Amino acid sequence: MGIHRLTLLSLVWNLETQAMQKSIEELRAQFLQQLVQVKTSENLEQIKVKFLGKKGPVQQLMQALRDLDTHQRPLAGKQVNELKEFITMKCECLEKELIIYEEEEQLADETLDITLSGRKNYSGRKHPLTQAMDAIIAILSGLGFSVQYGPDIDTDYYNFEVLNFSTDHPARDMQDTFYLSPHILLRTHTSNVQARVMEVNKPPIRIIAPGKVYRNESITARSHVFFHQVEAVYIDKNVTFGDLFSTLDDFLSKLFKKEIVTRYRPSYFPFVEPGVEVDISCLMCRKEGCPLCKYSGWVEVAGAGMIHPEVLRNGGIDAEQYTGFAWGIGVERIVMMLRGVDDIRLFTENDLRFLRQFTSL
Ligand code: DAH
Repeated sequence: MGIHRLTLLSLVWNLETQAMQKSIEELRAQFLQQLVQVKTSENLEQIKVKFLGKKGPVQQLMQALRDLDTHQRPLAGKQVNELKEFITMKCECLEKELIIYEEEEQLADETLDITLSGRKNYSGRKHPLTQAMDAIIAILSGLGFSVQYGPDIDTDYYNFEVLNFSTDHPARDMQDTFYLSPHILLRTHTSNVQARVMEVNKPPIRIIAPGKVYRNESITARSHVFFHQVEAVYIDKNVTFGDLFSTLDDFLSKLFKKEIVTRYRPSYFPFVEPGVEVDISCLMCRKEGCPLCKYSGWVEVAGAGMIHPEVLRNGGIDAEQYTGFAWGIGVERIVMMLRGVDDIRLFTENDLRFLRQFTSL
């Protein structure tokens, strides 16, 4: 009877040991099968964690050892340990290989092909109009003018009324205006700073006002709905027409970096008296005739004149004591001549092939 019980027990033990061995073998086979599919060290890490991790099958076998009989445990424990070492060792070997392989791949990827032609490195630059504005401001600052900015959206009062354009003044038709409401508009000229400056400063006043202006005109190669002007105002005792001519001529020569031939034609602007239009000989065609100068050889670049006494009074300045000149120049026309641009629309099209051509003035 005692013998029988022993035989039965050893049979059960054998069965348990066999089951454990089978599991170990299966696990080893599974591991090897998955190992051959590993392609990256990341994959390998996943497999390692999967088999040896805390909740992995090897760990489970370790725990199962506790349920075995003390006679069986040493052998089974040895086998599980061997499996663990086997998996660890295989992983380490493959890891070394993969690291070398991956390093080589990375190096191959980063190899410089010195036969490739270089990429052009375009550095940013200012828009040609901004470059011209900067140059204009620098020259006029050098002549003693300080910079003031006026609003793009303004009232009818500052854009027209204070400048002597009464409500039904026909001269308002000279400038097709974008009205936002009956009294609010997009300024049609930078002359809108004139009265503002006079209201807060006492003569001598010597300012320039650069900025955008807006006109409801059709867009063509020569005209646009918005463009840039620089207004200049000089008010003091004894300012004369001669001062206007000499300052403007001096400024234009400095801007074009050569003696410029100017032509002053009598003209009418409600806010100056007398008023003139200022032409310079066309630098684009050298007087041979081109679309820019409408085949006349001359290009109008500014309106100018002696500030009307009424405007001085509107600005709170004693017109008996003080006189002043003002001019407004159109920046686009000047840049077109300076840079040989024959279509004003190019400035706003943002075509990099156009814009990249302009290095600073
Ligand atoms: N504001 C005028 C225009 O845009 C240009 C102008 C003419 C400005 C005469 C002036 C000036 O300062 O005196 O048409």
